[in-house]
Amino acid sequence: MKSPIKGFSKLTQQGKIEWLVNEVFDGDQSVINTLKSYLHQDEKVQKLHNEFIENTITNYYLPLGVAPNFLIDGKLHTLPMAIEESSVVAAAAKAAQFWLKRGGFKTTIVGTEKIGHVHFMYRGDGNKLKAFFEENKNHLKDATDDITANMQARGGGITAISLVDKTSDMADYYQLDVRFQTCDSMGANFINSCLERLAETLTQTIESDNRFTQTEKQVQIVMRILSNYTPNCLVRAEVRCPIEDLSEEEGVSPHEFAEKFYRAVRIAEIEPYRATTHNKGIFNGIDAVVIATGNDFRAVEAAGHTHASKSGQYRSLTHCEIENGIFRFWIETPMAVGVVGGLTGLHPMVKLAHRMLGNPSAPELMGIIAASGLAQNFAALRALVTSGIQKGHMKMHLLNILNQLEATEEEKQLFVNYFKDKVVSHNAVVRKFCEMRDIPYSSMVKK
Ligand code: MEV
Repeated sequence: MKSPIKGFSKLTQQGKIEWLVNEVFDGDQSVINTLKSYLHQDEKVQKLHNEFIENTITNYYLPLGVAPNFLIDGKLHTLPMAIEESSVVAAAAKAAQFWLKRGGFKTTIVGTEKIGHVHFMYRGDGNKLKAFFEENKNHLKDATDDITANMQARGGGITAISLVDKTSDMADYYQLDVRFQTCDSMGANFINSCLERLAETLTQTIESDNRFTQTEKQVQIVMRILSNYTPNCLVRAEVRCPIEDLSEEEGVSPHEFAEKFYRAVRIAEIEPYRATTHNKGIFNGIDAVVIATGNDFRAVEAAGHTHASKSGQYRSLTHCEIENGIFRFWIETPMAVGVVGGLTGLHPMVKLAHRMLGNPSAPELMGIIAASGLAQNFAALRALVTSGIQKGHMKMHLLNILNQLEATEEEKQLFVNYFKDKVVSHNAVVRKFCEMRDIPYSSMVKK
């Protein structure tokens, strides 16, 4: 068994790579070349990347694609999309093109409120705590003034603090529930700093209040942390058109298409197995723009999934309605993203992504990202209820196999033509490849 290492983080980048190669890759020196080939040639840029996280040994690339023709609230956008999955960018672009001719995407910001909690244990008279809280609410808030001053100057800050009695769920458990506006930033650091100060002030103020008994004064702070569930930081994006304007799809009439599409969305509203895949497709679109713009896709996803479960059952984030001959399709999802702070001012590609979008405000970015999710879902459902999803995927799948086989450009073209009307499977492609190169199939099976 290999032995653990002490002080790994103190090694230089070179030292970390050497340790990894020797201890994990059994001294395989080719690993060094692979790792080094992904380092940025500009040392300054590499230094930036090194410092984004800890123990950096190289960079990990994702392709950055663009999806043009997104008409969102009357503005034409080209969306930056960082994603590894084939067909996602093409699907977004296709959906954008479709809705471009039908009025585009309309977005609504339902709210921009963020939430954080001080979770604490208080053993004693709950009414005494409630009275104390009402008396000291302003004092608690004032204690964060030095942290919130800049945010307040920009129109944000703490908007409300309340005491929540959770003792019916767990003995002695209370929360300070704190509401924030964080303007153009996602606000995680700001919120957590405020919560830490609030917790400290809460314990100190109770400690110095002689109306509390010694036991009551022993408030135990369990955690001070923002919630990634942001039900009031919510965005809607919508597309609509008369049914007749939905073009004929793969031999399916606009009315039949609208009906099947509506049913597909209803299935995702009532059936968690389908809802999970349906929402996964939505996050193909959402995450790609969230990542490209340097935002936290785990936070956006976590909130989206909680929102999707708010009825007690996991459901679709998109909805469809057909009324008076009008087809309406929309998404409603939480979206805590920022355009300042974090990576946004540091990462050269992130800065470029924001420029590509015309340097939007945080609420504008919320709308753009929601439109990307809606477009992705529209494209997926459009394919699913007509020709099926595989048709579009197959060319990329074929090219991926051919790249693995190190096929030439000329060979690739031949294969694309050959497989136009055939099912692409790994086996079928490899067999055809062997036949064409006149090499035994058995020699390729390991490749
Ligand atoms: C694949 O990444 C996403 C889809 O499965 C989404 C869906 O089924 O709606 C195509």
